[in-house]
Amino acid sequence: MLALTFNDFSFKYAGSTRFALKDVSFKVSTGEFILLTGPSGCGKSTICRAALGLIPQSYPGDYEGEIRIFGLDPKSTPISLIAQKAGLVFQDPDNQLFTLSVERDIAFGPENLGLPKFEIVQRVDWALHVVEITHLRNKAPFELSGGQKQRVAIASILAMRPSLLILDEPTSFLDPLSAYKFLNFISLLRHKLEISILMIEHRLDYLAPLVDRVILMSEGQILLDGSPIEVFSSPVLERIGISPPIHIAIFERLSDLGYYNGVPPLDIPYAIELLKSLVVKNV
Ligand SMILES: Nc1ncnc2c1ncn2[C@@H]1O[C@H](COP(=O)(O)OP(=O)(O)O)[C@@H](O)[C@H]1O
Ligand SMILES: [Mg+2]
Repeated sequence: MLALTFNDFSFKYAGSTRFALKDVSFKVSTGEFILLTGPSGCGKSTICRAALGLIPQSYPGDYEGEIRIFGLDPKSTPISLIAQKAGLVFQDPDNQLFTLSVERDIAFGPENLGLPKFEIVQRVDWALHVVEITHLRNKAPFELSGGQKQRVAIASILAMRPSLLILDEPTSFLDPLSAYKFLNFISLLRHKLEISILMIEHRLDYLAPLVDRVILMSEGQILLDGSPIEVFSSPVLERIGISPPIHIAIFERLSDLGYYNGVPPLDIPYAIELLKSLVVKNV
């Protein structure tokens, strides 16, 4: 079953002279965790908006090609219906939290669906539990840390029971350690809930071992779509000014110099162990 398909999709914002996306095609299967990355302005957020129907329903423009989200056409499906299939977590959680308590924020979406009271309560309890923030339920968003706010934002999306979670640079406002914890948490969540995830991020080092596939974009087009190792060891990355994950770059270099032959390690702890064994072998 496909969660999302883009088929030769192009889009030009009204009033703009150039296409923000040009002939974009890709698929997300159910249960997949995909990283979408590329330089600023390459069209990543535009993909999110188009997937969820905000383009063209809130952002008009020249629209070509076809998108399907769980079989629905986001061009014409009510946004409220799409929101029950797919949810978007933004860069800045402050844009997503607007009531005076965590609990009220999470209840907001289900209340708008007109669900019966008992089901709203059940969904809020469930979302708090899944995201492991039950202890924060009566806090006000301004009392929370950046990482906690981002979890509340996720809980409020999960309360809509989506099958696809789209995250648009969710760790931009987090320090490196909080970002690392947050991305690992998302990976666990994906297994726990069996949902698909489309993650837009620049923190490639952390995500390399967690994702199934990487899509690399530049100037409104998809340049690469493959496994993390295929994409991260491609010379295309540097050509568009993106640094590959540091541990992968080190092993590519060691392999060029004849010190290593094999596939570069995807995760940092494993890379450290490998480096140690190489040092022992070469002293
Ligand atoms: N609301 C808008 N109106 C006009 N142009 C836009 C709008 N939003 C984004 N763009 C343009 O579309 C292109 C892609 O932007 P965006 O999808 O935000 O890129 P990214 O998320 O990869 O940084 C950029 O050239 C940007 O200037
Ligand atoms: Mg963006």
